[in-house]
Amino acid sequence: MYKFDPIPSGGQSNDLKALVTRVDQSLDQGLLPVGVFCDDTVFRAEMTRIFGRTWVFVAHESEIPQPGDFVQRKIGIDSVIVTRDTDGGVNVLLNHCRHRGTEVCHEDQGNAKHFKCPYHGWTYNVKGEFAGAPHYNEAYGNTLDKKAWGLKRAPQVDSIHGFVFACLSTETAPLREYLGDTVKVLDAIFGLHPQGMRAVAPPERFQVRADWKSGAENFCGDAYHVSTAHVSAGLSDFIPDVRQVSVIARALDLDNANSFIAHEITQWGPMFEHWAYPPEIVEQFDFSNIDPALRELLRKSPPTIGTIFPNFSYLRFPQPCAPGDRPFPFTSIRMWQPVAPGVMELWNWQFEWACADEATQQESYAGGVFGFGSGGIFEQDDTAVWEGIAKAANSPWNHTDNVMLHYQQQRVDSDPDWKGPGKFYNNIYGERLQEGFWRRWIKEMSAPDNAPAATPHTDA
Ligand code: FES
Ligand SMILES: [Fe+2]
Repeated sequence: MYKFDPIPSGGQSNDLKALVTRVDQSLDQGLLPVGVFCDDTVFRAEMTRIFGRTWVFVAHESEIPQPGDFVQRKIGIDSVIVTRDTDGGVNVLLNHCRHRGTEVCHEDQGNAKHFKCPYHGWTYNVKGEFAGAPHYNEAYGNTLDKKAWGLKRAPQVDSIHGFVFACLSTETAPLREYLGDTVKVLDAIFGLHPQGMRAVAPPERFQVRADWKSGAENFCGDAYHVSTAHVSAGLSDFIPDVRQVSVIARALDLDNANSFIAHEITQWGPMFEHWAYPPEIVEQFDFSNIDPALRELLRKSPPTIGTIFPNFSYLRFPQPCAPGDRPFPFTSIRMWQPVAPGVMELWNWQFEWACADEATQQESYAGGVFGFGSGGIFEQDDTAVWEGIAKAANSPWNHTDNVMLHYQQQRVDSDPDWKGPGKFYNNIYGERLQEGFWRRWIKEMSAPDNAPAATPHTDA
């Protein structure tokens, strides 16, 4: 269990300041100090400076449809309970009793009227309000201010296409403003069907001895690794042309470290339009509110992979449920949950359109976990190489020699004809999106205490 020792408030430690400055100056030369992937000072600061002020995904509304439904989730390393209350609202509550602090909820999910603390029995309703305590009159008489002793609540909670995000800072901008142009891409991915998408099952979760940033950085723009790390997927006919898959990759940069990879999979044939959804599903899509440039992108080169800073990533890719089957797109959402320096939990949800019948949902789930999930063919490739990065970050030799990682691929200019949101690049090389991830990381790590999280196009 990681022991959290926060950076003292009122300023950054000198160690941290020096380290972030070094990352910033290194990045100007296309270099990254490898130590940031497994560093105690960095990790402690990330928990407050990044997870304490950005909007963090906690649940999808389809996971808590009924009053009293709840799931236990994470914001950074804090456990939170996400509840649906009797008014239909969603609450994000810190899972620590206000009496002596122990955890009040030990279930991953369920339905409850109250959460009763296992230590002395203080009880809270699903809005987190103090609802009673054993021997109340004898113990407290009328001295306890019940309104003041409810569970801590995330001050900002909002959802987009059912994806619930929470923000622990009151200073950070509201969710849609914070996301900026990314909203248009989310509309194009999740807003195509009036009934939306639903989580087909609870998230699979497993521990990986890799830093959370390795997953987030990879999904924000690394198509370069696919032809090597995932070569076995090509050998088993899982995807048509794995060696060339980075050649058909494009980059969509929405600023503020929110970015997507688009793949021109229609080069594999016309059936791959709209991620290869079958015509009977595409017919149900409503494109009328989708940005016109994105509409054309969906047809030809749909966004397949992406990251919303800090640790929310998306994946929709056509793949067969078994080699030889017709490819069908599955949608996975993943969270790179920090656990300790160089250690994360990977949480993997499979999603399907809510209108799909049960058999399609099950098939989509099976196809999704076949590729991604603890036993998924791609996931095993990725997590194996990311674990090596954490080891490099821990390497005494690397530390002694102050070894830097290489972010210097040649770059093309953005497409001047792109009319959609953000900047579009007709080629994925350049590691521009990965640099964007680190620029945002630097911005949050060096911002003053109580500063809001950055919004798109805010100056450094
Ligand atoms: S710690 Fe929860 S009731 Fe005492
Ligand atoms: Fe990968």
